Amino acid sequence: MNYFVRALLLAGVLVAGGARSVQPLSPADNLTTPAKAELGRRLFYDADLSIDGTMACATCHEQHRGFADGNSTHPGVHGDPARRNVPGLANVAWFKSYTWGDPRIRTLEAQVLVPVLGESPVEMGMKGQEVEIARRLSRDECYRHMFAEAFPKTGGRIDMAAVAQALAAFERTLVSYDAPQDRGAPRDPVAQQGAVLFRRDCVSCHTGVNFTDGRFHNVTGWVSRDRGLGEVSERFADNGAFRTPSLRNVAVTEPYFHDGSAPSLEDALRRHAGVQERDIPALVAFLKTLTDEAFLNDRRFGLPGEACGKRL
Ligand code: HEC
Ligand code: HEC
Repeated sequence: MNYFVRALLLAGVLVAGGARSVQPLSPADNLTTPAKAELGRRLFYDADLSIDGTMACATCHEQHRGFADGNSTHPGVHGDPARRNVPGLANVAWFKSYTWGDPRIRTLEAQVLVPVLGESPVEMGMKGQEVEIARRLSRDECYRHMFAEAFPKTGGRIDMAAVAQALAAFERTLVSYDAPQDRGAPRDPVAQQGAVLFRRDCVSCHTGVNFTDGRFHNVTGWVSRDRGLGEVSERFADNGAFRTPSLRNVAVTEPYFHDGSAPSLEDALRRHAGVQERDIPALVAFLKTLTDEAFLNDRRFGLPGEACGKRL
């Protein structure tokens, strides 16, 4: 058994027949079913979840960029300036907490409320409009059918909780373990050297199959207006600490860092105190072996073309 599969088993993940079929466990109160994930996929691409109908989850989370986007930060529906960079969503099912700075958000179901209802910053602008979301979705016969299929126990009730559960179920299908790095040591000698450097200098934080310890660190030694973990914990020592990002598909999720202030991988590495300039080319070559083309192009994660047998 190779190292990768063993690590997954240790992480409590079901492995049946190799990396491609790795699926995350879903919580007992929101088991993933095909009907629920398909509903979540449609909702993920539906701008009716935003106040003026212009913004879907996918507006900021674009599949071909690993579900990040190409901007430093992405303003919300009212044009309120955002303060943080959009993270990718590969393998989010396995994360211990969500967002760059808040360890209290521990489930994908809870995270959905941040963009939809959040006020600092406003993203989709639906605070106080939960009933409106249900009203909009209920108007559509196909949605009524999809909710009934996904949530037989509640008789297909359409409310914010069901929307969040369906979105979370879809996000749990965003599994990316088919990068060149997952198929063994890189062939390119520069990337091989990068892998060695990575094990020496990076795995203390970018560890495990998703290259993150899920913990919070201040890697630049600098504190800006966004204090990160310090804002939540109110501990001085936590100022400037952000959760170690996963490096899955990192070559396509530029720009980098919690505020999108590093335009390239080279810049992102230079920002880490202690990284040597001469090591950067090899490290970057290694990071490029973490791009999973199959994931970026998998039609099951893209804009759905049809629902209930009809074109959307
Ligand atoms: C306006 C752009 C925008 C929209 C729309 C948006 N997001 Fe995000 N998303 C972000 C940003 C920015 C963050 C990081 C926020 C932070 O760290 O404070 C984020 C974080 C996340 C995370 C946490 C990822 C991690 O690494 O912890 C998930 C999951 C997520 N979004 C899912 C969604 C879903 C589902 C929707 C639709 C309901 C959505 N997002 C809509 C910008 C957006
Ligand atoms: C002390 C823990 C730690 C170490 C060691 C570390 N990193 Fe990081 N890394 C982080 C954190 C935390 C961030 C996010 C910082 C922020 O946004 O302010 C980050 C960000 C990054 C990013 C940007 C990713 C993104 O999506 O924005 C890359 C690329 C990266 N690290 C690669 C590396 C490499 C390569 C090494 C080894 C040379 C390394 N890191 C060493 C913790 C660490």
